[in-house]
Order: sequence, then C-alpha cells, then structure tokens
Amino acid sequence: MHLIASASASFVTLLVISFIVLSLPVLISGSANDAADRVWPTKDGSPPKLYGHCGERFLMPEHTVASYEIAAIEGADYVEPDLVLTKDGILVCYHDLAMKRATNVADHPEFADRRGNHSVYKDGKPDVVVDDWLIIHFTLDELKTLKVKQQPDGVRPLYFNELFSIATFQEFIDAVHKVSAKENGRAIGIIPELKHPFFHNFVFNSSENFMEEEYLNVLRSNGFPLTQSDEGKCKGVVDSQGSTKDIPCGPLIFQGFDKPSQQYLAQQITLPEIMMNVHPDVYLLTPKGIQEIANFSDYLCIWKEFMYTGVEAEISYRGWQVDADLVSQMGGFLLPHQFVPFGHSLGLKMSLFTIPDSREHSQRGCAVECMDGLDRKNEMFYYFDMGIDSMFVENVPEAMRIRLEYESLLKNNL
Ligand SMILES: *[C@@H]1O[C@H](CO)[C@@H](O)[C@H](O)[C@H]1NC(C)=O
Ligand SMILES: *[C@@H]1O[C@H](CO)[C@@H](O)[C@H](O)[C@H]1NC(C)=O
Ligand SMILES: *[C@@H]1O[C@H](CO)[C@@H](O)[C@H](O)[C@H]1NC(C)=O
Repeated sequence: MHLIASASASFVTLLVISFIVLSLPVLISGSANDAADRVWPTKDGSPPKLYGHCGERFLMPEHTVASYEIAAIEGADYVEPDLVLTKDGILVCYHDLAMKRATNVADHPEFADRRGNHSVYKDGKPDVVVDDWLIIHFTLDELKTLKVKQQPDGVRPLYFNELFSIATFQEFIDAVHKVSAKENGRAIGIIPELKHPFFHNFVFNSSENFMEEEYLNVLRSNGFPLTQSDEGKCKGVVDSQGSTKDIPCGPLIFQGFDKPSQQYLAQQITLPEIMMNVHPDVYLLTPKGIQEIANFSDYLCIWKEFMYTGVEAEISYRGWQVDADLVSQMGGFLLPHQFVPFGHSLGLKMSLFTIPDSREHSQRGCAVECMDGLDRKNEMFYYFDMGIDSMFVENVPEAMRIRLEYESLLKNNL
C-alpha cells in the first residue's frame, strides 16, 4: 500500500517545512533555549501530551484503580477516567451505561431480575440498551460486590480479570495523587469525561445539571482549583496508614461529547481547560461548527479518522444520515489536513482519540483505508507531522517511546 510511503514522505516534507518555519522565531529572538523548546509543530511548541485512555487499558482492566495507577507510574501526562452515576448519585468510573461487557454481573443471581431492555439517552438521543444491566440501577454498595473484566483485544493479558471492583471518582483521584506523592509531587494531569450527562440528569429529574454539580463538588472537596480564588491544595497518600502530604493538584481538563454539558461546565469554572470531543455530531466539523466550539472550549478532540480518510469517508462507513444543506451552510466539512491549522488559527489546541497498542488491530472499526492496524509509529508520526497537541493512547510506554523517537529526529534535523 502507498499509505506508509506517503506518510513518511510527508513526514520528510514536514520536517523541512518545520525547519524553515520553526527556525524563524529563533532567528528573531536569537535565543538558543527557545530553539530547544520549540521543535514541535504543536500550538505551543511543546511535545504532544499523551493521555492514558481509560487508564492503562492495554495491560490492565480499564477504569480500575490499577489501570489508573499504572498509567500514572508509566508516565502518562494525563490519566483519563470516564464517569457515570450510581443509583445513589455517586460518580463511578466506567465507560458504558451497562455492565455486561466488562463486569461479572451475569454471575450474580441476586441481580438477575435487573437484566433486561432499558430505555436510555445516548448522545442526547433516545436509545435502548438490550439484555443488560444498567449501572444506574445499582447503589454503590451493590456495585462494589461486582468485579471488572479485562476486554480481550488481541494480545492483552487477562491475568487481572475479576481482581478489581468498579472504582469511584474519589478512588481515581486518590490513585493518581498517590503516585504524585511518591514521585516527589510530579503534577500528573487528569482528564475526566462525563458520560451521557443528558441521560443521567434526566434520571435524577434534574433541570439543574445534577451530574455536573456532583462532579464539581468532588473536585472542589479534593482541593482542585476551579476559579482564581480557589487555593488549589491537593493531598497525596504516602503510606498504608493513610498519612498524606501536600502535592500539586496537577492540570485538569474537562472532556466530553455533550455540547450543552461542556458549555455549562465552562460557565462554572475559569481554571480547568475545556475539551470538546466530536464524533457523531459531524456538523461541528465545519468552519462554523469549530468556531462555535472555540467560543467556549480550549481543545477540540476528534476521532482520528476525520484527519486521515476524512469526514465523508467516516459518514459513509458508519451509514450516518447527514443534512447536506446544513453542512454547506456551516461551510462544508474540513479536509483531513485542514483541522489542525484551522483549530490552531482559532486558538484551539487539537487532540484525537485513540491510539491502541501496536499489536492490536482495531475491533472498533474504521473506514476502509484507515491507519488502524498499521504500524503505530507511522500512525503517530502522521499526526505529529500535522502538529497535533495531544492524543489518547492505550499502551503508554509504547506511545512515549514513539514520541521520543520523533523528538530525537526533530532535534537532530534542527
Ligand atoms: C429485548 O429486546 C430484544 C431485541 O429487540 C428482544 O428480542 C427481546 O425479546 C427483548 N426482551 C424483553 C425482555 O423484552
Ligand atoms: C424522578 O421522578 C420519578 C417520577 O416522579 C420518581 O419515581 C423518581 O424516584 C425520581 N428520581 C429521583 C432520582 O429523584
Ligand atoms: C460566540 O459567542 C459570542 C458571544 O457569546 C456570540 O455572539 C457569537 O455568535 C458566538 N460565535 C459563534 C460562532 O458561535
């Protein structure tokens, strides 16, 4: 296939362009330090940040304290939990509304009567979860009797199945802060995603953003600064007796796919950054759509295929119905190579999901000519060439090695 060849050809071209473009500020400012800091084509010139997707999803069962702690130990710049609500309104870490896929709930006869078809809202639209158990029908105490299962995906180890229970948001924060305390206060970022806030607020009869408020409360009670007047004091546990020490809270990004929810959060806070994710809502992948996002968000994070095969290919692959008039009123879809420069020109940092382990062929599907399943180095280099500012990754050490390799190429060429 010509894909790899053209990706590396464009890499070389970009190196040359980067050399010319990135040399300019150095010539003007004349500072050698600037040169070392500004080798990456990202918005701020620093290396793209790597986010541990679902924690360390490759080695560990996703969204367990073990997956979060290991992502932090491995050196992820940020660790990602997904958040849903229990019946008693507690935020817990889980990817889906339903539990059959990744827990042993089916082995618990006492919960058999909660199995069934359930009406929910996903992406703001009515949907049905078929033959499954909803987390929102379980109290935290009940959930804690279940165990999480690793998602088999090729070469993942399955030794850690049914060792860990579903973690609360608080336990997530504790796991990351424990690592920070042990590493002399390295500021480890967190990038939580509120899952289906429309559905959760609907269940809690809330016109008042119950889910978002719970989320802000947990962050506040842990000392995270949300506005300029907050002190910003976080604690890391240092030993088994539970002694703590002060640590930096670490950078915080509010990430999500639900635009009203993200806008609500943006109104409540000033310090954490906002990241708007876009997948099914393709109207936002137009010049007008991205301008709307830039109005309240610091980041735009999109499915990586939009920047490879393009939005049209993804729509036809998924069979989505799209209103062509509306798309054209919004300025038409951006082409793969236009997203990063366009986002940057509006002040947005650009991000993508998700880079799996190199040995895993995606079972999540992608359009015919997608990069998935190809060499991760070529894939990550392709997006690094574009100037992507951050990405969600599943094998953190591998992604860090590839980032380092790219950086040494850049530095040697400069
Ligand atoms: C749940 O939905 C499936 C698929 O629509 C259907 O076959 C099944 O009979 C339903 N189960 C119940 C208990 O209604
Ligand atoms: C929401 O309202 C319904 C109907 O009034 C009620 O049955 C349910 O308990 C309420 N849920 C919560 C979480 O307050
Ligand atoms: C951005 O926000 C301003 C002020 O709230 C509003 O007037 C403008 O229409 C918005 N622009 C877009 C593209 O949504």
